Amino acid sequence: MQKTNNMEVLPKVLLVEDFEDTVKIIKRLLARNGFQVDTALTIKEAKERLKKSIPDAIILDINLPDGSGLDLLKDLKSTHEDVPVIMLTAYTELENAIRSLQQGVDDFIPKPFDNAYLVHSVNKAVEKNKLKKRLRQSEKFRVLGELASGVAHDFNNLLHSMNSHLYLLERKLKQSGEVSEHLAALKTSIEDASEIVKRLSSMGRKRKDELQVIDLSNLVQDTVLMTKPKWFHEPYKHGRKVELLTELEPDLYVRVNPSEIREVLTNLIFNAVDAMPTGGAIKIKTKKVEQKAICHIKDTGLGITPEIMEKIFDPFFTTKGHGSGLGLSISYAIIQRHGGEMNVHSKPGEGTVFTISLPCIEVSNLV
Ligand SMILES: Nc1ncnc2c1ncn2[C@@H]1O[C@H](COP(=O)(O)OP(=O)(O)OP(=O)(O)O)[C@@H](O)[C@H]1O
Ligand SMILES: [Mg+2]
Repeated sequence: MQKTNNMEVLPKVLLVEDFEDTVKIIKRLLARNGFQVDTALTIKEAKERLKKSIPDAIILDINLPDGSGLDLLKDLKSTHEDVPVIMLTAYTELENAIRSLQQGVDDFIPKPFDNAYLVHSVNKAVEKNKLKKRLRQSEKFRVLGELASGVAHDFNNLLHSMNSHLYLLERKLKQSGEVSEHLAALKTSIEDASEIVKRLSSMGRKRKDELQVIDLSNLVQDTVLMTKPKWFHEPYKHGRKVELLTELEPDLYVRVNPSEIREVLTNLIFNAVDAMPTGGAIKIKTKKVEQKAICHIKDTGLGITPEIMEKIFDPFFTTKGHGSGLGLSISYAIIQRHGGEMNVHSKPGEGTVFTISLPCIEVSNLV
């Protein structure tokens, strides 16, 4: 995960090309234009790279030492359907170019290539990929939101009735140690189920008139204080140290439902702590970039593998024994309802950065 000084993560391009001079030129060109470039000289190497991380775009040569780029393209389209592929090929290989277009390549660049066109093509591919991901996610949440609020409502009534019966049962039963143990377990399960339902119902919650203009950095500060038992006391009790550092730009005004944004920040801080079973550091940074209030939450935890990464925003997906798997999907839905974006970049073994961006309100418009 390569980052600029201010924790931004550069889009990643995998270049599959065996001609070293071309590799050097493209690498330098793309690095100058804000991309992080990983290279593979053969199909085998490219497959290894793809197992480790999924790039935002792939530039693929047709003639490779261990086979045809067209075969790799075919594989890619069946396993990593969404990753845009730009084919590099010599003018003389027109037939191959046509075949690659038939196989769903996103662009096709003839060699010798034009620098400006190559950068333009990679930019276009990365943006298209981002947009596709966002559209798919928002459709998923629209459907889920509708379903969730309906289910949550009915389920909540059932849980309420279970709780009342449990209360009566508890009073009537002569409590032997064993019975009370089971009753306590049942009570905890019902409480956990109610908590899940509460979170599920917020997924489809319509935005009410609870919006306030508030400084995002203040919300971060409040949440850091509120969550101190989770990031400081709890780990400390178990002999591990979690540090939480902040670097907050003042006057980052956003129009939000403060409790919802605190919920998102809490989820991200909790996840960061869970990802650091032997301790580590969380850094939260806020800043303004082009009319957007940005908040990075970075941890030095276990990181997220590409296979897991594909699922983390799916409701009920969890790798934790006691997680509900709703934290991130609800957080994503909240940020989306506020007209913002949530992104994540991670490197297994090194850590993860979640980035939230929300539309910023100009301070001058407030007076
Ligand atoms: N900072 C992180 N580092 C590593 N993995 C993470 C991080 N944040 C989330 N994940 C992964 O994403 C999964 C889903 O996260 P999510 O917050 O939605 O659910 P959860 O934390 O498992 O359960 P819940 O939040 O409902 O208690 C986690 O189980 C974990 O595998
Ligand atoms: Mg969580």
